[in-house]
Amino acid sequence: MGKEKLIKKYDNQVKMYERHRRNKMLAEWRNKLIKHASGRVLEVGVGVGANFPYYDREQVEITSVDFSPNMIKSAKEAASVYQVKANFIEADVEDLIFEDNSFDSIVSTLSLCSYPNPIATLNQFNRWCRKDGIVLLMEHGLSTNRLLSVTQKIIDPLYSKISGCHCDRDLSMILEKSNLQVLHIERYRSDIFYLIRAKPSKNSYV
Ligand SMILES: C[S@@+](CC[C@H](N)C(=O)[O-])C[C@H]1O[C@@H](n2cnc3c(N)ncnc32)[C@H](O)[C@@H]1O
Repeated sequence: MGKEKLIKKYDNQVKMYERHRRNKMLAEWRNKLIKHASGRVLEVGVGVGANFPYYDREQVEITSVDFSPNMIKSAKEAASVYQVKANFIEADVEDLIFEDNSFDSIVSTLSLCSYPNPIATLNQFNRWCRKDGIVLLMEHGLSTNRLLSVTQKIIDPLYSKISGCHCDRDLSMILEKSNLQVLHIERYRSDIFYLIRAKPSKNSYV
C-alpha cells in the first residue's frame, strides 16, 4: 500500500484508537513497560498518545512522532490532559534524522507491525538511543502456536489491507537480526504480544 493511502487509513482510525485507550489488557501492559522510560524520550508511532498516562511526567520530555496528522492532533490533546511535556513531529519514521545518542529512552508500541522495514527502524533506534539508555517495545507478531501462525499468515494480506498493519511478523527473528540487545522479554496471548526492554549495542552502526 502506498504511503499516502496508509496515512489516510490511520487518519480514519483515530476514534477507534481513542476507544482503545480504555482497553484493560493494553493498559496493564503499557503501565508495565512505560514506567521504565525516563529523561529524553522518543516515542515513534505515538498514535493518540495512549501511553501518555503511564509516563512519570516529572521525569520525561517526549518527542512524539507519527505520520498521521489526525493522530498527532489527538495526541496533542492527550498530552495536555495528562500534563506530559511533549513536542510533536509529523513525519514518517523512515525520514527521521537525529544525532546518535540523542535519547535516554525510545518507545514504540503496536507500531512495528506497520513500519515498512522493521529491522532497519530498530537499528535506527539503536543509534539514536544513548548506550546506557533503553528501548521499550510493546508489539504483536506471529504466534508460536502453529495453528494460529498459519492462520495469521493466511489472513495477513486482507488484514493489512484493512488495518494498515501486518499480523504475521516474526518478532523473535526481527529482534535477533537487529542490533538491539534484548534485556527482558514477556510474551502473552499465545506469544502474539511481546513486551520488550532492550539496550543498544555498542559497535553496531549498520
Ligand atoms: C497501531 S497504531 C499504534 C498507536 C500507539 N503507539 C498505541 O500504542 O496505541 C500505529 C501508529 O503508528 C503510526 N505509523 C505507522 N507507520 C508509521 C510510519 N512509517 N511513520 C510514522 N508513523 C507511523 C500510525 O499512524 C499509527 O498512529
